[in-house]
Amino acid sequence: MLLTKPLKKAAAKIFAAAPFSLENQTPIIPIRHMKFDFDPKKLDHKFYLNAELASAYFASLSIFLTRGEDLVIDTARYHRDFIKDPLLKQRVTSLIGQEAIHSKMHEELNDALIEIDLPVKLFRTWAGWVFDYGLDRLPQPMKLSLMAGIEHFTAVLAEYMMNHEEIFFHSQDEKQRAIWMWHMLEESEHKDIAFDVYQELSNNYTLRIAGFFPALITILVLISAASLLVPFYRNPKNLTSLRYWKEIPHSFKLIFGLKDGVYGSSLKHIFDYLRPDFHPNDHDTSEFLEYYKERLLNPETGILTPYLTKEFTPALRS
Ligand SMILES: [Fe+2]
Ligand SMILES: [Fe+2]
Repeated sequence: MLLTKPLKKAAAKIFAAAPFSLENQTPIIPIRHMKFDFDPKKLDHKFYLNAELASAYFASLSIFLTRGEDLVIDTARYHRDFIKDPLLKQRVTSLIGQEAIHSKMHEELNDALIEIDLPVKLFRTWAGWVFDYGLDRLPQPMKLSLMAGIEHFTAVLAEYMMNHEEIFFHSQDEKQRAIWMWHMLEESEHKDIAFDVYQELSNNYTLRIAGFFPALITILVLISAASLLVPFYRNPKNLTSLRYWKEIPHSFKLIFGLKDGVYGSSLKHIFDYLRPDFHPNDHDTSEFLEYYKERLLNPETGILTPYLTKEFTPALRS
């Protein structure tokens, strides 16, 4: 059947909007452009449950993570050329696109955090040491493994956040809420892509585990240690304040507590990665994704709707 121009346009629109490929039901991931225009005066430095150190952890994560995302982008770009499956190739393009916009938007947030006296420049320098002299210099097969490892940790974090929606609403800071919820949604949407690329191009179990540990040390240990400095940097008087020292165990519990903490309660999920037949989709987040796509992206009521400027799906190329 010959399609007229308007029909062709409509068909292309329908195909672009389709959430699944027809061949194998693999979700097609859109790239969303966002515009937050952060106002430093409205940034809440206690965004995370009003806990200064736990909030500092997320601010530090925002600073260090942009370098991790840049590593994911460069590594995915390098390996995309070796992938034969056009659908996986297309999904890698979506991963690159989503991460590029995460990195850009978090840099904008980080620039605004400078204005509220967070040690952004110092942490950028430290992140530079970790990546410029360390992780970015690893050989490509190891970077491929590290990429999958980083994406595992962001998937763990995203699942925790999706399971604890109330955390985002503790503060009135709507823009920090929006950027973290958007990031959470997309990390979960693309959580299997880096892993599938790794399996397709390497599939070496030992190397996969070797990439897990630098991701664990950077995200759990280095960033946590760096965030301990934030309250002193903001106000050196905190060093002698009883309130600050009392806050440490509280924030520690929020991040590492075994019962409800971000990583403490996710240990099973984190270390499930060490299972030889692990796959990210063993942890089913499809119901969360359905719920949050409506909650965040509904054209009338979506939390992200005021900040979303454009959305598109990369073309399928062989
Ligand atoms: Fe990201
Ligand atoms: Fe990611």
